[in-house]
Amino acid sequence: MSLFSLLRGKSWPKTSRGAGKILVAFASQTGAAEAIAWRSANALIGAGRFVRVAPLGSLDPAQLAEAGTLLVVTSTYGAGESPDSARAFVRRHMGSRANFSGIAFAVLALGDRKYDATFCQFGRGLDRWLATGGGRRLFDVVCVDADDDDAAMARWCEQLSRLGARCSVESLMPGAPQDWVLAERRLLNPGSAGGESWGVALTPKNPAHLSWTAGDIAEVWPRNDPAEVEAFITRHELDGATLFKWKGHWTALATILAMSRLPADHEVAGISVQWLVERLEWLGSREYSIASLPEDGCMELLVRKAVKDDGSLGLGSGWLVATCPVGGIVSLRLRPNPNFHPPGDGPLILIGAGTGMAGLRVHLKYRARKGLKGAWLLFGERGRADLYYREELAAWQQDGTLARTDLVFSREHDPRRYVQHLVTEAGGDIRDWVTARGAAILVCGGVKMAAGVETALAAIVGEDALEVMTQDGRYRRDIY
Ligand SMILES: Cc1cc2nc3c(=O)[nH]c(=O)nc-3n(C[C@H](O)[C@H](O)[C@H](O)COP(=O)(O)OP(=O)(O)OC[C@H]3O[C@@H](n4cnc5c(N)ncnc54)[C@H](O)[C@@H]3O)c2cc1C
Ligand SMILES: Cc1cc2nc3c(=O)[nH]c(=O)nc-3n(C[C@H](O)[C@H](O)[C@H](O)COP(=O)(O)O)c2cc1C
Repeated sequence: MSLFSLLRGKSWPKTSRGAGKILVAFASQTGAAEAIAWRSANALIGAGRFVRVAPLGSLDPAQLAEAGTLLVVTSTYGAGESPDSARAFVRRHMGSRANFSGIAFAVLALGDRKYDATFCQFGRGLDRWLATGGGRRLFDVVCVDADDDDAAMARWCEQLSRLGARCSVESLMPGAPQDWVLAERRLLNPGSAGGESWGVALTPKNPAHLSWTAGDIAEVWPRNDPAEVEAFITRHELDGATLFKWKGHWTALATILAMSRLPADHEVAGISVQWLVERLEWLGSREYSIASLPEDGCMELLVRKAVKDDGSLGLGSGWLVATCPVGGIVSLRLRPNPNFHPPGDGPLILIGAGTGMAGLRVHLKYRARKGLKGAWLLFGERGRADLYYREELAAWQQDGTLARTDLVFSREHDPRRYVQHLVTEAGGDIRDWVTARGAAILVCGGVKMAAGVETALAAIVGEDALEVMTQDGRYRRDIY
């Protein structure tokens, strides 16, 4: 790749403005859109195009209008909103019409159809805003449903090819999952009044895969109960070892069946194996915040067992905490999540609840290894039985990695109190840490908790200051 072809920054070099130049802007919460943006840019660079890649949130309309061609890759978050990093962009610029009359543009919108009413809403809105400003739409917004939408990615790829890119769907998407061994699992909250939370330790078959950064995410591809798959294969007299091209990779039939909804017998009666494979419905992947560092020698996850009304287990959590045998293989893909990487070595406030402890713990581990002292943890759970990693937390409090730990157990209070109440009560100190000491804030856990915490933080430091902190990477969230 030519150094002159791929630039990351706010403006074009003076000699390279104007038509013919491609700007790839991205807005991403958990790294998926960002990764596709870079891969799309690489495909264009491979064809000799001059490409610049930049976070949408670091740009303004005038900078967008400087591009000959603008490609935006974005996800949708919250309830149809932008990822955090583009929130200031939306507030400052998207309320009014800008002038994009000189540019051609296209939008790749990542989303998930389970958010029915707001599917890809931010990407679609961005597409409309660019068109309203007079931009020439190269092609209709391409909406991608979760991580299993090859047809949409093929459309994006085809359009990139028209811009000269050399690409295939496989080259734009993350690689195949890797084989990890479920080495150990342990119930971390025995006696809890709430759901079970398990510590799950995994080791990669290939030691080279033991490599990630604090804040990254594990995508787990759940499987059916191995006994059910075996019974299906036997019942239908199939050869589980036969290889088929599946999701871009040669995969054994037994593995494909393990990762797909197993059809009822009447659904498969009389059909060929090839047709069966084509009709199988993938179980999808589930994301988990990684709770350990590669230096720990294994990947640890903190998984809440999801139990449905009929007593059956959630697919992803059930696979990790119950169905997969210890010693069994877990298909797992690492996803870099730059938006939740360590925000520097300065003072840090960590706020979270429930399994959000996973994403906070890994940052405390990171700081402990670097000898960074004085972080502040605010954490909430149902009861004292749910205080995960309590010995570690005590040790960090002892050695100064943690300067302060504020805990709240909701069930011990009437009315219930949650971590956002802790934040409000500690408002004066939080303001002091943020404004006088320049502390960064990390939030990890469920969206409801995160919304409550954000309201409390905005009341303490002010909405504008929080927005600036987001832009500067001093307010980072890993929420779900
Ligand atoms: C960034 C992030 C980090 C997370 N970190 C953690 C963590 O550290 N610990 C933790 O316990 N949980 C975490 N989660 C939640 C986790 O990913 C699962 O949602 C949770 O374990 C329940 O999943 P399940 O498969 O057990 O339940 P299920 O009920 O089987 O599935 C849960 C949800 O997955 C979606 N889904 C269903 N089918 C498909 C499909 N075919 N393809 C894709 N999605 C589908 C649906 O929205 C469904 O409601 C995180 C989520 C995100 C987004
Ligand atoms: C908390 C949360 C809220 C989401 N809200 C929406 C939504 O409103 N509409 C939608 O289409 N997708 C929604 N999604 C799905 C994401 O857009 C999708 O997972 C996307 O691939 C994430 O890309 P990113 O990693 O670049 O942020 C949401 C995902 C999460 C975890």
